Amino acid sequence: MTTMRVGVLTGGGDCPGLNAVIRAVTKSLIQHGQCEVLGIHDGFEGLMGEAPRTRPLGWEQVSGILHVGGTLLGTSNTANPLQDAATLAQVGANVRALGLDVVVAIGGDGSMSIAHGLGQALGLACVGVPKTIDNDIALCERSFGFDTAVATVTDALRRIESTAYSHHRVMVVETMGRHAGWLALEAGIAGAADVILLPEIDYDLQAVVERCRQREQRQRYTIVCIGEGAKARGGSLTVRERVAHSPDPVRLGGVGHVLRAQLQPHLKSEVRAIVLGHVQRGGDPTPFDRVLATRFGHYAARLVIDGQFGRMATLQGGQIGSVPIAEVANTQRTVPLAHELVATARDIGVCLGE
Ligand code: F6P
Repeated sequence: MTTMRVGVLTGGGDCPGLNAVIRAVTKSLIQHGQCEVLGIHDGFEGLMGEAPRTRPLGWEQVSGILHVGGTLLGTSNTANPLQDAATLAQVGANVRALGLDVVVAIGGDGSMSIAHGLGQALGLACVGVPKTIDNDIALCERSFGFDTAVATVTDALRRIESTAYSHHRVMVVETMGRHAGWLALEAGIAGAADVILLPEIDYDLQAVVERCRQREQRQRYTIVCIGEGAKARGGSLTVRERVAHSPDPVRLGGVGHVLRAQLQPHLKSEVRAIVLGHVQRGGDPTPFDRVLATRFGHYAARLVIDGQFGRMATLQGGQIGSVPIAEVANTQRTVPLAHELVATARDIGVCLGE
């Protein structure tokens, strides 16, 4: 039996649990006995340019990293090997020079789209692992990293509540999540937010004002949890910046401040806004994410060993399995309006800005 050379990379924004996946993939492949593992630096960027950047991964390199946040391989959410023909050709040449038989791409929908594109353009064999705190990867009910981000935002909301209460303020807390409201919704419920505004439901400013006024009369403070992709009815997305060539060029951010300015003229209480930002992506993964990342990594190694290329490990109905990367590429999983959690939030009196 010949030895298989397996490249492993982490692409897109970082996320707690990446190291746990790297560890599980590497250990499972080494344990199998017929695989060599090569870590690729900084996502797909490590395969671009004239000198590919890699390092061998063995048992020692991946020991002691299960609980550590971030990624020991580094990542990039700007690199795009599909950006032009010359870059693509260089990536092809690098893959051949490195002798890679398959690449395990641990990433979000942008990385899955690139993996799919490289498969089509170069015939590169890829296996995917779903990563993102946004939980917005198609055909996957839970990406690793999401649970940790929910815990971080929930903790922030509880901390903000005590100061909101003391100062009788309306506090607007902006979460990440891009065009999906999973993070704002789950953390908003867990953190007992009074108002939760999602990208999937354009908010009626008047409805939010009314809820804050009601609370001004009684509790005298209000917590608003708003996803960065939310917008007012008839309004537009709040874009922080655009990054040329990036698989996801539009970077959102700042809608919390927009909402603060919209609310303040209508309320007696002082309104403050907080953008939680990258604190949501940092830190050590929760035990749930460590286990999920390990299961995904182990399953991805099995896909490699079984020659099941072009597939992404996934979680559906609580079971680990796989789906074609082609079906995941270029799509996002947003919160369905009929989702049980949306109905639950409404029924327990959370204002969804409707
Ligand atoms: O996709 C993960 C994510 O954290 C999004 O929630 C957020 O919009 C984006 O990445 C931020 O990216 P950057 O690190 O480039 O600001």
